[in-house]
Amino acid sequence: MKIVVFGATGKVGSRTVKEALSRNHEVTAVVRNAIQIHNIPDGAKVELGDAKNADDVERISRGHDLAINATRPPTGQEEEVTAVTQGLLDGLARTGVRLLVVGGAATLKVPGTDGRTVLDDTRFLPASARHIGLASARQFKVCSVEQRIDWAYLSPPADLAPGDRTGQYRLGCDELLIDESGSSSLSMEDLAVVLLDEAEKPRHHQTRFTAAY
Ligand SMILES: NC(=O)c1ccc[n+]([C@@H]2O[C@H](COP(=O)([O-])OP(=O)(O)OC[C@H]3O[C@@H](n4cnc5c(N)ncnc54)[C@H](OP(=O)(O)O)[C@@H]3O)[C@@H](O)[C@H]2O)c1
Repeated sequence: MKIVVFGATGKVGSRTVKEALSRNHEVTAVVRNAIQIHNIPDGAKVELGDAKNADDVERISRGHDLAINATRPPTGQEEEVTAVTQGLLDGLARTGVRLLVVGGAATLKVPGTDGRTVLDDTRFLPASARHIGLASARQFKVCSVEQRIDWAYLSPPADLAPGDRTGQYRLGCDELLIDESGSSSLSMEDLAVVLLDEAEKPRHHQTRFTAAY
């Protein structure tokens, strides 16, 4: 497949590029600044562009089978997430390229509560990170009304961090996945596995899904 990754130098994006290359996909890594080019692994094509610029997204995504959005606005600029998501969707609507969005856990429902979401549960989202959760809720809202393209929104578990690639995970829909010990986690390496599995065998269309151990 021809896969374009936005946010290719980020924590999730770089692991996604690596996983896609390891599966012999043709990868286009998008960076905003030329000084980032040396951070892209050999084997990936590099394009300069901004995900919130629909013209850039249209130009770069044309001819690809799939776009993966692993962008995250810089700290303090969380409100940018709406413009970035809209720019991506508008650009991809012109090329018809499918989109997988790496989103946030904030809007997942916490099992065993009366529909409380992660956003309002400090066991899973500390109050200090609430502004980030609110940004991801806005990102999900922008995606959820999109009808022009085939998209899927992957909500990570509460704890998503660099770690090992195990290839193991469970899938869910709108509820936070919690293991027997009460934790909701996945390594970023395994999140990349989830993304590439979904890329190769799409199971989710215009909907959200989640994954965790
Ligand atoms: N538990 C959770 O819910 C959880 C935990 C972690 C991450 N996440 C989600 O995972 C996603 C990726 O996070 P991350 O930790 O990998 O982020 P990160 O390490 O901060 O990387 C973000 C990447 O996005 C790029 N970027 C930002 N704005 C862009 C734009 N307008 N156009 C193109 N590229 C842009 C950055 O490039 P520059 O170098 O140019 O800035 C950077 O490469 C985010 O949606 C985040 O919310 C969720």
